[in-house]
Amino acid sequence: MKIDYLVNFRLSALPEEKVDLLVLGSGVAGLSAALAAAARCRVAVICKGDPEEGNTADAQGGIAAALPADDSWRDHRDDTLAAGDGLCDRAAVEVLAREGAGAVQKLIGLGAEFDRRGGRIVFTREAAHRRARVVHARGDATGIEVEKSLLRAVADNSRIRLLPGTMTVDLLRRGDCCLGALVAERDGSLRALRAGAVVLATGGLGQIYRETTNSGVATGDGPAMAWRAGAALADLEFVQFHPTTLYLAGAPRFLISEAVRGEGGVIRDAAGRRFMPDYHKDAELAPRDIVSRALVDRIRRTNSSCAYLDVRSLTSRGFQRRFPKINALLRQYGLDAGRDLVPIRPAAHYAMGGVKTDLWGRTGLKGLFACGEAACTGVHGANRLASNSLLEGLVFGARAGRRAAAERRLSSRPALVSRRRLSPPGRFDIEDLCRSLRSLVWMKAGIERSGDRLKEARERIRFWQNYALRFETADRRGWEVQNMLILAGLICRSALARTESRGGHYRLDHPHRDDRRWLRQIVVKKTR
Ligand code: FAD
Ligand code: SIN
Repeated sequence: MKIDYLVNFRLSALPEEKVDLLVLGSGVAGLSAALAAAARCRVAVICKGDPEEGNTADAQGGIAAALPADDSWRDHRDDTLAAGDGLCDRAAVEVLAREGAGAVQKLIGLGAEFDRRGGRIVFTREAAHRRARVVHARGDATGIEVEKSLLRAVADNSRIRLLPGTMTVDLLRRGDCCLGALVAERDGSLRALRAGAVVLATGGLGQIYRETTNSGVATGDGPAMAWRAGAALADLEFVQFHPTTLYLAGAPRFLISEAVRGEGGVIRDAAGRRFMPDYHKDAELAPRDIVSRALVDRIRRTNSSCAYLDVRSLTSRGFQRRFPKINALLRQYGLDAGRDLVPIRPAAHYAMGGVKTDLWGRTGLKGLFACGEAACTGVHGANRLASNSLLEGLVFGARAGRRAAAERRLSSRPALVSRRRLSPPGRFDIEDLCRSLRSLVWMKAGIERSGDRLKEARERIRFWQNYALRFETADRRGWEVQNMLILAGLICRSALARTESRGGHYRLDHPHRDDRRWLRQIVVKKTR
C-alpha cells in the first residue's frame, strides 16, 4: 500500500520549532549521538515515553569489547564476522572492534561503573566469543548502568534538551531530503520540529512478535517511518531469537541472560535430560539461533510446553550475587534458583536489520542519519554476537551524531501538506488487531519459517493493512500498531525472498546456507 504519512496535516498550520539537530530516541544510541553532536551544535532528544524506557535499560549480560590484556580487536572482529554467518560488512565490523575498547573507556570516564575484583574489571564469556571479554555492571544490570551514566552526562550538558513523552509520528521530507519530524505530545496534539539533521535511534521491533524480550517501546516506529519517507531498509529477515526467556503463565517474558549459561547453567528437557550437547559441540554456548531451534525441536519431541534452565549447581558459587536482578525476579514468581528448574522458551530479541546506513550513519535520505538497533550498519550480518549491541550503540551512535552535526543544514520552511483519504476509526479495536498480528508473526515468521507460512502471513497482513492503515488514529498506540503492520509485512516479504537458511533466518523448506545465490543483502524501499 502506498503511504507517505500516517496523518493528514498542513505544515503551515502546525506549531513549529527549529532545532539544530534532532535525535529520535534516548537509548544508548540516541544519547551517544547527542553527546557527540553537542560539541558542535544544540541538540534536542525526544523519546515517546520516559527517558529510561527502552531496550538499553533492560540489557543484562554486558558490553563486549577487546579490553582484556589477552584480547585483540582482530579477535573480536573475527568472532563478530563468524557469528554474522557470511553477511557482515567487514568494514563496519572493523570500526566496531577497533573503536570498541575506546568507547567503553569513554563510558567509564562518564562515570559508568563496571564490576571489578581486586580493583580490576571482571570479564565474562558469552556464546561464540573465543574468550571472556564482556564487561557487566551490578551483575546483570548492565543496561541501567549504561543508561543512567549517559542520561547524567546529557543532564550536565547545557546544549542538550531532553523532551520525554514526545512521539515521532513521521519524518518531514521534501524529495530525498529529511527536514525534521512531525511529533505528537502526550495529548495527541501535533507539532513540527524542523531540524538541520535528524538522527533516528528509535530502537528495536520485538513487539511485532507475540513472544519477546523487548521493551514496550520497541514497535519498530523508526524503520517504518523511514520506509514511508523513502529510505532503504536492509536485512529485515534477520531477527534474533533469544533461547532463554522465562516462560510462566502471566509473567513477562523476562530474559535470563546468556551469561547464566556462560557461568555454567545448563538446559534440560521436560524429562530432566540435558540435550544441547546432542545439537552442537559448544552445547549451551552454541550460537543463539542454534540453541533456540534446538529448544523448539526438543519441546516438540517431548510434547511439552517449555524446556528448563538448571542453575542449581551455581547457587553455591554465588548465583544470587552474580545475577541479583534475575534471582529477584525468579523469587517474585515463586522460583528458588537453588532448588527449582526454571521454565524457559525462546523469544524474539533483536533486529539485525533496519534503516540502511554507511559507516557514519548516513541513510539514503539527505539529512537523515540512523544508529543503534533501528539501523542496519551491516555490523551484525545474519546474526549478532552477544553483547555487541550496546557497543554498536556507543560506537555508531557517536559517529552518527558527530557527522550529523557536521553536515546539518536547516532549509527554508517547505509548504508540506499531507492529504490522504482517511476514514474515521469507527468501531476499530486496535488492541485486537495488535494481538492477532503478533500471534501471526510469531507463528509464521518466527524461529521456523517456510514459504507457505510466510505467504499466508504476508497475505493476511496485506488484508489488514488495506483497512487498518486507512484509519486515522490520533494516539500513540494507533500509530505504533500501524508501524508494526508495515514492518511485519516487510519482514515477511524479505523472509520469503531469502530462499536459504542463514544466521537468525531459518527456512524449513530451504534448510541450508546457499552462498552461490544469497551472499548478499535484501534491501527494501518504497516505490514512489
Ligand atoms: P533503545 O534503548 O530501545 O531506545 C529506543 C528509544 O527510542 C527509546 O527512548 C524510545 O522511547 C524511543 N522511541 C521509539 N520510537 C519512538 C518514536 N516513534 N518517537 C520517539 N521516540 C521513540 N545488548 C547488549 O549488547 N548486551 C546486553 O547485555 C543486552 N541485553 C539485552 C537484554 C534485553 C532484555 C534486551 C531486550 C536487549 C538486550 N540487548 C543487549 C540488546 C540491546 O539492549 C539493544 O539492542 C540496545 O540497547 C538498543 O539501543 P537503542 O538505543 O538502539 O534503542
Ligand atoms: C543476554 O544477556 O543474554 C543478552 C545479551 C545480548 O543480547 O547481547
